[in-house]
Amino acid sequence: MTTRWRAYDPERDFGRVREFLVRTYLAFGTPSVNWGIERWNYARYFVAPMLGAAGTEPGVPPGALRAIRMWEEMIGLWEDERGRIVGVANIEHPDPEHRGFGEIFLQRHPEHPELLDEMLAYAEDRFRDPRKNRVFIFVHETDAALRDAVARRGYAEKPDVAASHLEIRLDDLPAPVLPPGFAVRTMAEEDDIDRRRELLGRAFNHPDPADWPSAFAYRELQRAPDYRREHDLVVVAPDGSYTACCIIWHDAENRIGHLEPVGTHPDFRRRGLARAVVLHGLRTLAALGATRVPMESDAPLYEAIGFRKVGVSRPWVKAFGPGAG
Ligand SMILES: CC(C)(COP(=O)(O)OP(=O)(O)OC[C@H]1O[C@@H](n2cnc3c(N)ncnc32)[C@H](O)[C@@H]1OP(=O)(O)O)[C@@H](O)C(=O)NCCC(=O)NCCS
Repeated sequence: MTTRWRAYDPERDFGRVREFLVRTYLAFGTPSVNWGIERWNYARYFVAPMLGAAGTEPGVPPGALRAIRMWEEMIGLWEDERGRIVGVANIEHPDPEHRGFGEIFLQRHPEHPELLDEMLAYAEDRFRDPRKNRVFIFVHETDAALRDAVARRGYAEKPDVAASHLEIRLDDLPAPVLPPGFAVRTMAEEDDIDRRRELLGRAFNHPDPADWPSAFAYRELQRAPDYRREHDLVVVAPDGSYTACCIIWHDAENRIGHLEPVGTHPDFRRRGLARAVVLHGLRTLAALGATRVPMESDAPLYEAIGFRKVGVSRPWVKAFGPGAG
């Protein structure tokens, strides 16, 4: 069957790629080599608008719109003869200053391994970091097809770097326990965007408000097709301040849940707040019918909660000419 490349059309294709990710998520076993729906939503509706503007910018920051457009314009789609998506090449951080710039993501269809070479060629051409003159891609240890393809194309593995894949089954979850006076609330009840984006900024260790997500970025996130305000969880302190957070995402077709992001304000760490908000989220997902939650993280929090390690990915780097690194 022949396939053909096509540029991404945001209006038409966001939902079609989402459906493709749902269709292929379980096809490669555990863990998936493709993104889950949460990452697809989060990249377009939060990462891009956040990277494009300072947290202090009011209104609709032009840089945020530019970053969204850049992310969309870099996506390549491959379709079969019947017009069904069989491959997607994309980036996650549309900002040449970001350390993740130059990273390739290939969303694949299990019946089209022959596309890998063409997808990599496209990504090397379009996604290259011009300052470091390189691209890189994480390859799961069991993904022989991708490993062979990148090795053939001159990538070198970085054996000293690893990303852990974790998973938890959603049975037998303990009840969350919070310190007295603290409570889990949702953005369906609270929806204080300024407190919420400050918490997110601080949880990821940014004291400067310019480095927090802009109000526009948070509102964009709330427009993401799979975002639900009642699944955006915050731990509220007795004085009303926001201290920890977790957004849950539900892939009902695959009976899978996702957490993105999880964080605790630095002044409130090691008091069990992240454990409690994550357990709250996991129990909500279980009640919706999800049976497990995969996760890519090296934070000790998750194994403390009961996630177990199911695999490792390592980066492979392709450098182009002198000055590459
Ligand atoms: C990771 C993070 C969310 C943990 O939040 P927290 O509220 O401090 O976590 P908890 O108090 O619920 O910790 C529960 C358990 O996880 C483990 N844990 C949490 N933070 C840890 C750390 N820094 N080092 C080692 N173990 C840790 C411990 O086993 C802890 O239990 P204990 O305190 O009884 O030993 C917080 O440090 C954070 O926001 N970091 C920055 C953002 C981030 O990395 N997010 C997660 C990845 S997406």
